[in-house]
Amino acid sequence: MKRVYVTRELPEPALKPLRNLFETEVWDGNEPIPPGHLSEVLEDVNGLLCMLTDEIDANLLGRAPRLEVISQMAVGVDNIDVDECHRLGIPVGHTPGVLTETVADTAFALLASIVRRLPEGARIVRSGEWGPWSPTFLNGRDLNGTTLGVIGMGRIGRAVSRRCLGFDMEVVYTSRSPAPEVSAERLELPELLDKADHVVICVSFNPETHHLIGRAELDMMKESAYLVNVSRGPVVDTDALVGALEAGAIAGAALDVTDPEPLPPDHPLLRFDNCLVVPHIASSSLRTREAMAGLAVENLVAGLEGRKMPASFSRDPNEESD
Ligand code: GLV
Ligand code: GLV
Repeated sequence: MKRVYVTRELPEPALKPLRNLFETEVWDGNEPIPPGHLSEVLEDVNGLLCMLTDEIDANLLGRAPRLEVISQMAVGVDNIDVDECHRLGIPVGHTPGVLTETVADTAFALLASIVRRLPEGARIVRSGEWGPWSPTFLNGRDLNGTTLGVIGMGRIGRAVSRRCLGFDMEVVYTSRSPAPEVSAERLELPELLDKADHVVICVSFNPETHHLIGRAELDMMKESAYLVNVSRGPVVDTDALVGALEAGAIAGAALDVTDPEPLPPDHPLLRFDNCLVVPHIASSSLRTREAMAGLAVENLVAGLEGRKMPASFSRDPNEESD
């Protein structure tokens, strides 16, 4: 019987197909599995179902002689050395599609919250600073009538665009390939940063998108513009973002992902009232996490049975954001 290892507890119904078909072991810690332990269990495992918190590098893969398939319960696979997997003939599964709409909901929620200054308002109410109504109190910006810049027009970028177009916004975007089905203008990054009233980052993270948004790019944004990131933290140069917030170079930011992650409570980013940080939860609806677990299991089963995975990772330019 083939052996599979799952690096985090999942709902039992999701695991059932694995338990029926394979000798299945699940890491039951509340924290991610320590790398040393993962390396030990991989010596003897045919299939791995992993999370984005697991670093699957060439060194680890070199110690996993029986490993045939990797299935990650996430759309982004930047924690996995996919080139090395490719070289070793190990297919890598991920979970695109099933999380697109939920992540887009969260991106829109982050954008609306920060632009309308809701976190600041909520903090003021809780801290007892709420005074009488005033015409100038917490004047924020509008979403309606503004232009959103979407960086990365993959599935998630398109889903964010659909929402914003429905809220009387215009959309401009950057993408490796055109997205003619979206009513939006494709621009180069500097033009987008110059033109957009607000910017949402939806690209996948890879060496080309590392620090895509640094000091120069933040300086190209409007001073009234907010930046939203639902991709991966290192797409934005964190120090540059702190500098831009300090200098008032942009209006603020709303981040589902940060670099580092988790963000320590004394991190400078958390000093700003106009910076909303939530803990990497963009896909975290009950229904979507179930769907992600289900697809990750289907991928693993298919791979171990020598069939094509329903969703294997490829560097297809059309899968830019998810
Ligand atoms: C979450 O960040 C994912 O990549 O699915
Ligand atoms: C505000 O509360 C208004 O009524 O305009």
